[in-house]
Amino acid sequence: MKYKAVIFDLDGTLTDSAPGILEGVVYALTQMGRPLPDQSTMRRFLGPPLMVSFTSFLGMTEDEASQAQDIYRDFYLEQAALNNSVYPGVRALLQALKRQGAYLGVATHKPLKPSLHILEHFGLLPYFDEVAGPAHGEEVGKGELIRRALRGQQMDAVMIGDRATDITGAQEAGVDGIAALYGYGHLEEFERAGCQHYAPQVSDLYALLGVQPLPKQGYFISFEGNDGSGKSTQARLLAERLRQSGYEVLLTREPGGTKVGEQIREMLLKRENTDIEHLTEALLYAAARAQHVREVIEPALNLGKLVISDRYVDSSIAYQGAGRGLGEELVRAINAPAIAGRLPDTTVFLRLDPEEGMGRAMRKREADRLEAAGDQFHRDVAAAFDRMISAEPRFLTISSKGEKAQTAQAVYGQVSARLRAAGLP
Ligand code: TMP
Repeated sequence: MKYKAVIFDLDGTLTDSAPGILEGVVYALTQMGRPLPDQSTMRRFLGPPLMVSFTSFLGMTEDEASQAQDIYRDFYLEQAALNNSVYPGVRALLQALKRQGAYLGVATHKPLKPSLHILEHFGLLPYFDEVAGPAHGEEVGKGELIRRALRGQQMDAVMIGDRATDITGAQEAGVDGIAALYGYGHLEEFERAGCQHYAPQVSDLYALLGVQPLPKQGYFISFEGNDGSGKSTQARLLAERLRQSGYEVLLTREPGGTKVGEQIREMLLKRENTDIEHLTEALLYAAARAQHVREVIEPALNLGKLVISDRYVDSSIAYQGAGRGLGEELVRAINAPAIAGRLPDTTVFLRLDPEEGMGRAMRKREADRLEAAGDQFHRDVAAAFDRMISAEPRFLTISSKGEKAQTAQAVYGQVSARLRAAGLP
């Protein structure tokens, strides 16, 4: 590795924060009854301290700028700060740097409080030895922020940022500077600042820092739960949150997830198909799964993606094995060639008492063929899931009794702990 310490800017370098920042600026200007500037002036707000932007780009007085900044801050912290996403590839880079022993810091003009909040929200905070940002109302240059991020130590260091101020700050602090061209700055501003090193993409930083990429590692998560437990919604919310946090995520479902699988799903769930034999039903679920594993799940895992499947083989064991009474052993045997040994790394089981779940599902729409199968069927299914949960540590059981957002937070918290334990970035 070329450097002992790597310091990153936050907005436009670690995270794509433009939507939240621009939302905040529009809000402040609207509240003050001022016209909105054109697109290119708006873009200039991404990077410099807000006071500078309000005074030099919009001609505000110091007092007006300070009022605009206060309105922006209240709104931003409460509503817009998390309208933000980690650039794809950043997590893996931080992980690679950390594994190779780098000291990591953040030097940002964003005030410290929201910066820490954002890094914490996306699970990036543990990577950093130091985070430096202005205290409330403090005016401080980038050079000083870089020195703070290095805790005042003399280290062989580099600053990576997406604005010319990051490069001039690096020069002041006596460290190298790299322009993150994928952020909000322009080539000309870096050239004017005398920048020597450029990273058009996050992946270009590996060579510039002299660090080896880590091998790609996929991870497979399935969601299970009683009908009406909200698992499809929770699978989607988890996928969104993980994507925002910088993971490559593939969200899929069973039965389905492929063209032929979706056709099998239709056959299986149609209420008029009253004459499907239990064995036929089990074979159809397994057939859809065989296609799903080969066409979707395995290729995505091999590319290092995080795969989230709304139901998987455990549903067959519970519904066909226990619910239909075919027996667990037979259903496992039918599914063995379909899954070819591929089991989820983590299975999130959303727990809701089966009667309550069916109530929720029924209120929404007409029951499908499986949902209409009767109370005893659903109790047998629930008991089979309970047996699997106590036998297999890959299960995480999470109650879905509370509010949707509360359940989503619990799911994200427990899944991200599993990802970290598995060594994923
Ligand atoms: P869904 O509720 O997730 O849309 O799933 C559709 C139905 O299919 C649901 O009632 C559970 C059932 N099912 C099985 O019976 N066996 C299986 O292997 C799978 C994946 C689903």
